[in-house]
Amino acid sequence: MNPETVLSLSAPARFQLEVVEACTSTNDVLKARAGALSDPYVLIACRQTGGKGRMGRSFFSPDGTGLYMSVLLRPELPARDLPLLTPAAAVAVCQAIREDLGVEAGIKWVNDILVDGKKVCGILTESALTPGGDVSHAVVGIGVNVSPPEGGWPGEISATAGSVLPRFTPGAREKLAAGILRRYLALLPRIKTLEFSEDYRSMLLYVGRGVELIRGGESRAATVLGSDRRCALLVRLPDGRREAVSSGEITLRLKEDDT
Ligand code: BTN
Repeated sequence: MNPETVLSLSAPARFQLEVVEACTSTNDVLKARAGALSDPYVLIACRQTGGKGRMGRSFFSPDGTGLYMSVLLRPELPARDLPLLTPAAAVAVCQAIREDLGVEAGIKWVNDILVDGKKVCGILTESALTPGGDVSHAVVGIGVNVSPPEGGWPGEISATAGSVLPRFTPGAREKLAAGILRRYLALLPRIKTLEFSEDYRSMLLYVGRGVELIRGGESRAATVLGSDRRCALLVRLPDGRREAVSSGEITLRLKEDDT
């Protein structure tokens, strides 16, 4: 990972960049150091020893083939708008994959990016509030499988994980990091306008298809209709009712009999 490439490709966005060979989790490191850092501060690791995903899952973070990046932000947002940071990042990632690497990617609500039906990127946003309930800071963590890992995918994700590119391509991780940062940092000051949600909707996968909405151990069938201005998922339930689903605790799975 060449920091110079990331910096030069990202101009004119202003941010601080640190690239490390390895760390536990770029999110955890930035959260621990948040008080001492100005924002935006970007930490990229070539590998993570304790990469984290949503809902307590781990994020497979092998050396050399993935992009593991976290961005520390002090957004001027009310706490209720913090959930917008994740779909906005999904838009930046998807646009960078499409426009800079020429690969057709789409968003699986709410924080996964897929290529050819396989997950190539996950986003984990963690935030801290002041005792008064204002936003202190947020850490937006983005993990992208840029090329396949040398030893293959571990068994538990081998059916669902994929990579953006079919083989290792020198410079691709740097290009992607720069492309994501340039787009995301440009989008953030306008996040409250919700303009990005049009792009989000246009990149949303599974529209018109049957899915299962899974929360805890419970699953409900639904048909995806699209997403609203705040990027909540709009679904139709089997009894005809429509619902806007916005909880990050809900997982979406394509129904197996939906072709
Ligand atoms: C998910 O798929 O549930 C989210 C995965 C987020 C992974 C990224 S990699 C960089 C940052 N550091 C972490 O430990 N997690 C995020």
